[in-house]
Amino acid sequence: MCGIAGYIGERDAFRVVFEMLGRLEYRGYDSAGVACINKNAIHITKDKGKVAEVEKEAAYADSKVAIAHTRWATHGVPSRKNAHPHKDCKGKIAVVHNGIIENFEGLRARLVKRGHKFLSETDTEVIPHLIEEEYKDGGGTEAAFVSAIKKLGGSFAVAMLSDKENNIFIARHESPLIVGIGNGENFVASDIPALLPLTKKVIVLDDGEYGIVGKQKVVIKKINSGRVVNKKPKTINWSMAQAEKGGFEHFMIKEIHEEPQAVKNAIAERTDIEKIAKKLAKFPRIYFVACGTASYAGRLGRGVLEHFGVPSNAEIGSEFRYGTSKTIDKNCAVILVSQSGETADTIAAAKEAKKNGAYVVGVVNVLGSTLTGICDDVIDIGAGPEIAVASTKAYVGQITSLTLLGLFIAKEKGKLDVVDLNKLISKLGGVPEKISHVIGDKEKIKRLAEKYRNVKEFFYIGRGLNYPNALEGALKLKEISYVHAEAYPAGELKHGPLALLEKGVVVFALVPNDHLAKKMESNVQEAKSRNAEIAVVSEGGDIKVPWVDPLLSPLLYVVPLHLFAYYLSVSKGLDPDKPRNLAKSVTVE
Ligand code: M6R
Repeated sequence: MCGIAGYIGERDAFRVVFEMLGRLEYRGYDSAGVACINKNAIHITKDKGKVAEVEKEAAYADSKVAIAHTRWATHGVPSRKNAHPHKDCKGKIAVVHNGIIENFEGLRARLVKRGHKFLSETDTEVIPHLIEEEYKDGGGTEAAFVSAIKKLGGSFAVAMLSDKENNIFIARHESPLIVGIGNGENFVASDIPALLPLTKKVIVLDDGEYGIVGKQKVVIKKINSGRVVNKKPKTINWSMAQAEKGGFEHFMIKEIHEEPQAVKNAIAERTDIEKIAKKLAKFPRIYFVACGTASYAGRLGRGVLEHFGVPSNAEIGSEFRYGTSKTIDKNCAVILVSQSGETADTIAAAKEAKKNGAYVVGVVNVLGSTLTGICDDVIDIGAGPEIAVASTKAYVGQITSLTLLGLFIAKEKGKLDVVDLNKLISKLGGVPEKISHVIGDKEKIKRLAEKYRNVKEFFYIGRGLNYPNALEGALKLKEISYVHAEAYPAGELKHGPLALLEKGVVVFALVPNDHLAKKMESNVQEAKSRNAEIAVVSEGGDIKVPWVDPLLSPLLYVVPLHLFAYYLSVSKGLDPDKPRNLAKSVTVE
């Protein structure tokens, strides 16, 4: 949800921030802009469009300090006037912002009364005007910046330039912001990929902190007290190669090819997972909470526990925070699943659960993200940077971690003996090779996608542990191909949706070789009898998947669904990495 970049040092700041923005585009890509200081004046260049398009048209300005933004519209349509940076009346202050200023209407009305002129429909524009107003007190830039920030309600990551300063001012509350530490130069970014070729050392700003980023020095302070916070930089272990396409046409297909490695990386965290499982097993009530694809991983986590007779619940973040969280107490453990660790609804759910005394565990891909700072314990899925908006390898990493977690909890609870546990873990070790085998069949899936290119309606059906995969397959199709797709537990079709099945509708049926296979086959027959076209994913089906222990089947059965969604999107001439209206990190409610 919007990407922020900033640079101060000896390099060409204009170029550096545009390059950083390019690596943050997965956070939003409807407009982009840069503000830099040249000859003591602020120059802004911005427009509607993707970063590369805006950069092509941008008026170059020679500068050593700049801030930049790639936008995912909340308030105001994508347009030049709504693109960031925004400035004050005199053009002496420029601000970029990620988040939502919830009290912007009141602030704006008061500022208008004082004669401020607004040029956009955004909530963000109140910030430079507020700072301009606070400057009138004569306390200097830092004082004006902090007083303005204190008046903001809602969520924000903010970076500001003032023509009076050779520093970047930053602040955060509930939206991510990090500082990259260089040699005689420093960087500001929403997320790690922006920094990868520039520095490996980062300082993560926490909620309620602001910073003054200079060429040689970075000072972080508390917004409320002004107290200096001494923060040691952390070292990032992601590589630049992980954040590049590496010869693939899109990030999404590259990331699908990384699914075997995602399973290996998740297994590598087994010692931590086992330790956390021991703690979790003590709680009578276990909840999985997440959004989107991660919520399907949460459902899978619940499925694994239920398989062993351990009760648990799976909920969507935006519902949990206002509903179930009221029933959470110290007898509960809440497991938050999130690739980015920045999803607003998941973070809010974690905070509510913690406030109510629960043991809170994060299953996260981005270490150092906001969620990792809230949770009591964190499981790192270790999938590496995921750039495509559609989550693929992170889902596979999440379901691997949650399967392992479920196995260890079942063992702790005496529902799974050590011999069987070890057998399952050893079978899990064989899954990456089987996934590679499925990926090896991608040409067949590509042909299927071309065949179904004009189909308007898809259904995905599965049972038990593969119902979350049905949800995942349908979401992926909607997300990147803009085709309507529905997922149902196969047994539910006959309770209504069957009325929609007719010639021209395609049904994907996930039929692993488990105790429900016969029931699935009957459901497939029911769909066939209504003239729907069926694509069976099974050991001997239209899309073939190697044999795997049924408990581990979700890890394999999702792979063809990811490939199909990718190829359908490509066959329609769409960009699967940047679907319309979406952004990778959903940092607003
Ligand atoms: O970063 P998170 O895992 O918390 O993100 C949650 C969802 O926004 C995310 O999974 C979304 O549904 C994906 N774009 C789906 O591919």
